[in-house]
Amino acid sequence: MAQIIDGKQLAASIKDNLHEQVIRLQAQYGRVPSLVVILVGNNPASQSYVKGKIKAAEVVGINSQLLTFPADLSEEALLSEIDRLNNDDAVDGILVQLPLPKHISEDKVISAIAAEKDVDGFHPTNVAKLWLGEKCLLPCTPKGIMRMIELTGIQTSGATAVVIGRSNIVGKPIAKLLLDANATVVMTHSRTKNMTEITRQADVLVVAIGKPNFVTAEYLKPGAVVIDVGINRKDDGKLCGDVDFEAAKDIAGWLTPVPGGVGPMTIAMLMENTVECFISRIG
Ligand code: GUN
Repeated sequence: MAQIIDGKQLAASIKDNLHEQVIRLQAQYGRVPSLVVILVGNNPASQSYVKGKIKAAEVVGINSQLLTFPADLSEEALLSEIDRLNNDDAVDGILVQLPLPKHISEDKVISAIAAEKDVDGFHPTNVAKLWLGEKCLLPCTPKGIMRMIELTGIQTSGATAVVIGRSNIVGKPIAKLLLDANATVVMTHSRTKNMTEITRQADVLVVAIGKPNFVTAEYLKPGAVVIDVGINRKDDGKLCGDVDFEAAKDIAGWLTPVPGGVGPMTIAMLMENTVECFISRIG
């Protein structure tokens, strides 16, 4: 029976510590860190994620602002809004919720955010620094996964880590962070042949492929650490991960639930990144 990694509880404790840090920063500098979240359009999943981010900021004592725009906002108007926020000294972090409507280039928008305010760690400067091993703002989901692994006391050095999914947001950066933690990393994706033969070697398996209950018993090595990044909404409105939880819980050694696993850690890391931006900008 797998031990469940309680991301919600770990995140709550991280946010408590950040709250205390924010109170100290307020006393020292006379203001608190500030985060602006931009939502374009009315994608229900994005609306729900953004709500969670704003609520967390409130808990931590970060000054947050949600800017919502209609789906037909022009790319030019969004870029000009970002330019305004880049030049606003009172703003420490800028997050543009993805995905954006098709007529807006996500690459252009991400590149337009000042790298020192890029709380998502998506800007090319931060991505380059990550791959060069330089200090940088790390993307929140992979950072949260590594923090969960560390806080749980799981050893990654020398372990075989397999990643399913190769997105810029999760798959690619988590592979680099696991490599930095001395794991032997294998990346798999939708075109991988004999996927189960590879994943069955995994001491640590990170699943971020966006397909509900994709990972079943035959994918797993007994005792493996299984990190489920998927957030999929079923027909009955309930959430489920990319891992078949019921099947995995009898085989894995450690397992993250959905909801209550990686999701809350992502948000906690967004709060941490906002505090990091504040400190590096004010210092
Ligand atoms: N959409 C899904 N995940 C993320 C994320 O981590 N950041 C942003 N900005 N958008 C997302």
